Amino acid sequence: MKKPPENTFDQLKEYLRFLNEIGIDFLDSYCERGPRSWLMPQIEKAILSCERCPLFRTRSKAVPGEGNWQAELMFVGEAPGEEEDKQGRPFVGRAGQLLTKIIEAMTFKREEVFITNVVKCRPPENRTPKQEEIIKCSPYLEAQINLIKPKVIVALGKVAADFFGPGNLGLGEIRGTFFDYKGIPVMPTYHPAYVLRNEGRKEVKQRVWQDMKKVMALLGRR
Ligand code: URA
Repeated sequence: MKKPPENTFDQLKEYLRFLNEIGIDFLDSYCERGPRSWLMPQIEKAILSCERCPLFRTRSKAVPGEGNWQAELMFVGEAPGEEEDKQGRPFVGRAGQLLTKIIEAMTFKREEVFITNVVKCRPPENRTPKQEEIIKCSPYLEAQINLIKPKVIVALGKVAADFFGPGNLGLGEIRGTFFDYKGIPVMPTYHPAYVLRNEGRKEVKQRVWQDMKKVMALLGRR
């Protein structure tokens, strides 16, 4: 029998420990119904009632993410804003409307891709999430990625790019070039809210489109 890579068991142990911590009794239902159809709702349920960081005190609704659990393309933003916090859905405000247009220009329907955020609860006044909040929330995104296994991830803005990437470079320096996250190519690009704030600067929108064309090429869409 082929020997599994050295750290496989450690990773599995850590994943099971996390699932156990959020109340998921892993093995029974996994064996009956398969991983995605059972685990995704469990992860969503855990996010909706999460109290792992203080953001649960100020949120209206946690926002697990939405879309296709078998998506080849995943978009990851920073954290829910005001409208997302009210509706419990990701990217439904102004930036979300722009993201939907970008997705459609890429020849996808919104429901064909998976959209989520690094942090699942709105930080007060839409401030940037703190490092402790990102760390506490990160197992949820990792679990979502593990289950969906997208072919490509688009990281929207600096917080998402830093989650996947080296973290010590500016977004302007790293956008437009794929980097690797656990075998998945990640394309960092500007956040749609940044594009909206810079509506007068045509080059910002153009750069996002250049980046998305690389993603489309990788997925065989032209
Ligand atoms: N900005 C984000 O980063 N995520 C959302 O869901 C909405 C706005």
